Amino acid sequence: MTIRIVATTPFNDQKPGTSGLRKKVAVFQSSGYLENFVQAIFDTIFDNAAAPPGCTLVLGGDGRYFNREAIQIILRMAAANGVAKVLVGQGGILSTPAASCVIRKYATFGGIILSASHNPGGPDGDFGIKYNTDNGGPAPEKITDAVFARSRELTSYRTVDAPDVGLDQVGSCTLGGMRVEIIDPVADYAELMESLFDFGAIRALIGSGFRLCFDAMHAVTGPYAREILERRLGAPAGTVINGVPLPDFGGGHPDPNLTYAGQLVAIMYGPDRNAAPDLGAASDGDGDRNMILGRHFFVTPSDSLAIIAANATLAPGYAAGLAGIARSMPTSAAADRVAGKLGVPCYETPTGWKFFGNLMDAGKVTLCGEESFGTGSSHVREKDGLWAVLFWLNILAKRRLSVEEIAHRHWAEFGRNIYSRHDYEALPSDVAAGVMAQVKGRFAELTGRRFGDYRVKFCDDFSYTDPIDGSLSTGQGLRIGFDDGSRIVFRLSGTGTEGATLRIYLEAFEPDPARHRVDAQQALAGLIDIAHELSQLKQRTGRTQPTVIT
Ligand code: G1P
Ligand code: ZN
Repeated sequence: MTIRIVATTPFNDQKPGTSGLRKKVAVFQSSGYLENFVQAIFDTIFDNAAAPPGCTLVLGGDGRYFNREAIQIILRMAAANGVAKVLVGQGGILSTPAASCVIRKYATFGGIILSASHNPGGPDGDFGIKYNTDNGGPAPEKITDAVFARSRELTSYRTVDAPDVGLDQVGSCTLGGMRVEIIDPVADYAELMESLFDFGAIRALIGSGFRLCFDAMHAVTGPYAREILERRLGAPAGTVINGVPLPDFGGGHPDPNLTYAGQLVAIMYGPDRNAAPDLGAASDGDGDRNMILGRHFFVTPSDSLAIIAANATLAPGYAAGLAGIARSMPTSAAADRVAGKLGVPCYETPTGWKFFGNLMDAGKVTLCGEESFGTGSSHVREKDGLWAVLFWLNILAKRRLSVEEIAHRHWAEFGRNIYSRHDYEALPSDVAAGVMAQVKGRFAELTGRRFGDYRVKFCDDFSYTDPIDGSLSTGQGLRIGFDDGSRIVFRLSGTGTEGATLRIYLEAFEPDPARHRVDAQQALAGLIDIAHELSQLKQRTGRTQPTVIT
C-alpha cells in the first residue's frame, strides 16, 4: 500500500460547534475541505503520529447527501493514518445513538459520525462531521479546540489510492492494510434497547389495541424503528411513516417539532380526536432527538424528561433508581422538582450534550435532557430519540393511562412548569449580537425591578464549572429569573448555518391544578412582553413573530 501525502492549504473556518463541524454540502465538497478536517482529527487523536497498534474506529452517518462519498474518503485516510480496523454501518448508516452504542460495546478507540442532525440535507443542504471518544460521547472541548487549531496549520493530508469499499453487504474486506467491517447498523442498538425496556409489556400493550405512529421523517431512524417497533414489538406495518431514509430527507426538514413534523402533527391533531393514535413520536435526521405527542396533546421535552424521571423504575434497566438527573440550563426546572422528591441531585449544564458525558462517566447522573427534544441516559453518551419513545411505551404499558393523563397527573403532583421557546432564525449576526448586548446592558438596573406581577430576582450570563474536570464554560446564555420561579433566557444558537438564530426561552411555574389546562402561549404572554421590551426585539430585528414556536 502506498501512502500518498497530498498538499493542502489549511482552512480557517473549521471550528466545531456544539455538535461538530457543520457546513453546506458544497463547502464539504470543495477540494481538500473534508480531508483537511479529517486529518486534523487524526493528528489530534493520534498525537501527530500513526494510529496506535490495533486501533479500531466506528464510522457511519445519517445517510444524508454526500454521506457515502465522505465515508470512502475517510476510510482511505484512516488506512493511510495507520488505523487497524473500521466498523462501518451497512450502507454507511449509523444513527448517532447507535454509533455511540457500537463504540462502547466494542470498546473502540472512538468514532466518526457524519451528520448535520436536524438540518436539511441534499445538494443544497448541510453536511456535518464529529468525532466521538471511547466513552461513546462527543469529544470534549479540549479535543475539538485542538482539532480546530490543527485544521488551521495543516499543509498536507494522508490518503491511499484504493477503489471504493462496498458498503451494502454485511461482511469484511481490506483497504490498504486496514480491515473494514460492514456491520448491521441496527442489531447492537436493538439488543441494548431490549435489555433496558420491558418488551413483553410493550408487546402486550400493542396487542391490546394501543395505536402508535412513529414519523422517521425520511431520516436515519426508519430502519431502527421498523425493526424495533414493527418487528420486535409487533406494531402493525405502517406504524412507522416516512421510514425510508433519503439523501435529502424527502425535501423536508428532519426536526421533530410541531412545525417540521407537520404530517405527524396532522395525524395526532386530526378533527376526530378518538381516531388519532394513542402515541405519536418522531425523531430527527440522525436519530438523537424525539418528540412525544398524545391525542391532541404535546409533551414538552422538559416535561418528558421529568415524567420519564418520575416513572423511571417502571423500566427494567432503571429499576434500581436514578443516581441523578442533569438538564441543560434553558430546559425547564420540571426535572429539578422530580429530583428533589426522589432525593437525587439535579445538575444544570450549558446547552450541548457533551456536558452530560462527564457526569455520566462519573456515575453522577442516569438521566439527562434538553428542551430541544433531546432526552437520554447513561446507556450511551448521546441523546437518543427511539430510546425516549421506548421509555414512554414502557411507562404507558405499565400505567395504562393516556399520554395526556400521565402528564396531568404529573403536574398535579409536582406543579406545572409552563414552557415555550421562540426562535428567530436567519438574523444578521450583528443584529443578533446587538439584541444580546442590549439585554446584557440592562442587567445592572434589573435586579429588584418590577414588571407588572413579575419582580426580577436575578440576572446573569450563565457560566458552568464542570464538577468533574473543573473546566469553565462562560457566556452560555442570559438568564433573568423572577421571584415566582418564572424565567426568561436569551441565547444564540451554536448550530445554525445561516446568519444567527436567537432563542428566547420562557418558563412560568403554575402550582394550581385548576390552571394546568391553560394554553402555554397565553400563560406566558406577560413574560413574552417583558422579553420583547428588554431586548427591543422588534426595533432591532424588524421581526414581529418568531420563526418557530415550540
Ligand atoms: C441546538 C439545541 C441544543 C442541542 C444542539 C444539538 O443547539 O438548542 O440543545 O444540544 O442543537 O442538537 P443550538 O442551536 O441551540 O446551539
Ligand atoms: Zn440530531
